[in-house]
Amino acid sequence: MSNTDERAGRFFHGFADTFDSLYDGRRGPVWRLLDSTFRRDIVERFRLTFDRLGDLTNKTVLDVGCGSGVYMREALARGAARVIGVDAAPRMLELAGERLDAAGHKGRYELVAGNFPLGKPIDRADCAIVMGVMDYVAEPVPFLRALAAQLSGGPAAISFPSRHWLRSPIREARYRMRNCPIYLYERGDIERVLKDAGVTAVHIEKIRGAGQDFHVVCR
Ligand SMILES: C[S@@+](CC[C@H](N)C(=O)[O-])C[C@H]1O[C@@H](n2cnc3c(N)ncnc32)[C@H](O)[C@@H]1O
Repeated sequence: MSNTDERAGRFFHGFADTFDSLYDGRRGPVWRLLDSTFRRDIVERFRLTFDRLGDLTNKTVLDVGCGSGVYMREALARGAARVIGVDAAPRMLELAGERLDAAGHKGRYELVAGNFPLGKPIDRADCAIVMGVMDYVAEPVPFLRALAAQLSGGPAAISFPSRHWLRSPIREARYRMRNCPIYLYERGDIERVLKDAGVTAVHIEKIRGAGQDFHVVCR
């Protein structure tokens, strides 16, 4: 099973440098203030992911929709032996390679270009990270089944975007203009897709305050 909807990859290829400027404190003070108010989920989901995945020493970590490699860098800094990053946007993978090399991680990572599920084999991993990706996945059940098949029963930390009465219609309209449809979830939708994919939920937590993401850990 492979995912042939290339719209998210096409959009993020062009948007990669702007997206990446969210990280490492590179935005100016006004943007930083807006980000800390409206994009607090991005900080919070990073913290929750590493808290919940626990000790990564000597593990192989799969990061699906790895973007510019911020999670991969952190996993390696926490002792992972190897990380595999998959992304549909080639420019994101270039940025990820630059970030990981700059952090001294040459030789400890693999970057795979393509839309997950890939339809080609990649190495199995001990755990997985899927952050900010389910927003763009039209068919979550085959995606989650393929993810589970990459893991040997190990945990996956996954964010799911929630519905917000004010922010969601604005976000949906913005992404429609970018020709990149988005898919939003209520808690019950998440429980249903996990069940249909044969995956067990360990935690489903709505990130408080910003009100956008659910942070999910499953096996
Ligand atoms: C919002 S960015 C998040 C990047 C990174 N996970 C982070 O949190 O910094 C979403 C990324 O997912 C990628 N993406 C979306 N759908 C994908 C799919 N089906 N397979 C692989 N990559 C995908 C996009 O190209 C983009 O780089």
